[in-house]
Amino acid sequence: MALKKGVEVQKATGKLGILLPGLGAVATTFIAGVFAARRGLQKPIGSMTEYGTIRLGKRTDGNTPRIRDYVSLATLDDLCFGGWDIFPENCFEAATKAGVLEAALLEQLKPELSAIKPMAAVFEQAWVKKITGPNVKKGKSKMELAEQLMADIQNFKRDNGCERLSMVWCGSTEVYRQATDVHSTLDKFEAGLRNNDENIAPSQIYAYAALKCGVPYTNGAPNLSVDFPAMQELARITQTPIAGKDFKTGQTLLKTVLAPMLKARLLGLEGWYSTNILGNRDGEVLDDPESFRSKEVSKLGVLEHILQPDKYPDLYKDFTHVVRINYYPPRGDNKEGWDNIDIRGWLGYPMQIKVNFLCRDSILAAPIVLDLALFMDFAKRAGMSGVQEWLSFYLKSPMTPAGLYPEHDLFIQLMKLKNTLRYTKGDELITHLGAEYYD
Ligand SMILES: NC(=O)c1ccc[n+]([C@@H]2O[C@H](COP(=O)([O-])OP(=O)(O)OC[C@H]3O[C@@H](n4cnc5c(N)ncnc54)[C@H](O)[C@@H]3O)[C@@H](O)[C@H]2O)c1
Repeated sequence: MALKKGVEVQKATGKLGILLPGLGAVATTFIAGVFAARRGLQKPIGSMTEYGTIRLGKRTDGNTPRIRDYVSLATLDDLCFGGWDIFPENCFEAATKAGVLEAALLEQLKPELSAIKPMAAVFEQAWVKKITGPNVKKGKSKMELAEQLMADIQNFKRDNGCERLSMVWCGSTEVYRQATDVHSTLDKFEAGLRNNDENIAPSQIYAYAALKCGVPYTNGAPNLSVDFPAMQELARITQTPIAGKDFKTGQTLLKTVLAPMLKARLLGLEGWYSTNILGNRDGEVLDDPESFRSKEVSKLGVLEHILQPDKYPDLYKDFTHVVRINYYPPRGDNKEGWDNIDIRGWLGYPMQIKVNFLCRDSILAAPIVLDLALFMDFAKRAGMSGVQEWLSFYLKSPMTPAGLYPEHDLFIQLMKLKNTLRYTKGDELITHLGAEYYD
């Protein structure tokens, strides 16, 4: 049964500005990739908004358009970029330092990349302990800093002739803190900004500024940023989409594919040991135990939610789950992850799975930044505000509306994403139910 009507979605006309707090390895790899793809030098592999398709109707209908031909999305040519960083280097210098992309490619993109210079950041050493830089705003209160960010946002939009903006946090992982009373309501949060409450992190000030300006905000790191009630309240008031936390790129991507397989076949789990080495600046920041704690919490939640030990005590009660990240400079951005998975089969006989993923952190993250920025802009034009659960597909620790547990299974997440797009068009949702048996 086709839905009666879809959702009215404004067309993606004009320029979309993508604003990135944190112009490090991920952000510059993303921006350089868009420039390279625009010029036909490289292909934007890994991006659903560029390559994804969506089946409509019955399998026999043979109707599978590209997603970008199905819903209105900004094109790569429509995009322009801005951001903030504590280091003053422009994007060419930052990308060169990050060492992800080859120098020969960066050299070809030098004019466009050099033109993007970071705006002064809102930064506090207490929240990211391992790095320090000079390009930082000054203000008497956190509210004053938020107002400076709002001015940056408006100026960027005006100076670049953008119709719309989308912000994605690509800054360092802040230290682990849970939400406190100041995060519980918008009134308390705004009072906290005026009184310089120590529990308000810099990333939260960016998120506040974005939402006040009605700009969709996505958090690519595991720290709270926008994941607390005061921000959900502000998102509702300003009709703005929010999403987070933590790009699902490497080891957790594999985990959310393998764990559903164990669960589907009802194989037991004794333990899952995951370790990584990486040598980029992200690795250096995560070498601080408090920043690592944010990452650890984000990575650990996945298995419990997928395996549901309370429902399957014989299979999943008390499994051991350990996650380690070791900073190892020689590897740079080329992370290596190992997983040792101890499982049990028929009659409890033990078996092991070993995974060794030699990945590239920012190469995996860049298309996710693109998709999230574009889909969040789509959500805004479709009038979808608050937590965008349908984008959980991209996130390690997906935000949910209050009271709901997150869905981690990658293929359920994918189905939800595509069904949300079908819903906006009023098309039949695809549930893979063999409806022909019941007609
Ligand atoms: N690459 C991946 O696979 C991946 C996956 C999930 C999450 N992440 C997260 O994405 C973020 C970016 O990763 P990266 O590899 O680009 O790290 P990076 O260290 O290369 O870049 C982060 C940048 O943020 C800047 N920064 C820190 N605090 C800031 C602030 N308050 N305002 C503005 N700039 C600030 C730093 O100076 C740095 O240049 C990290 O939080 C990381 O944990 C990355």
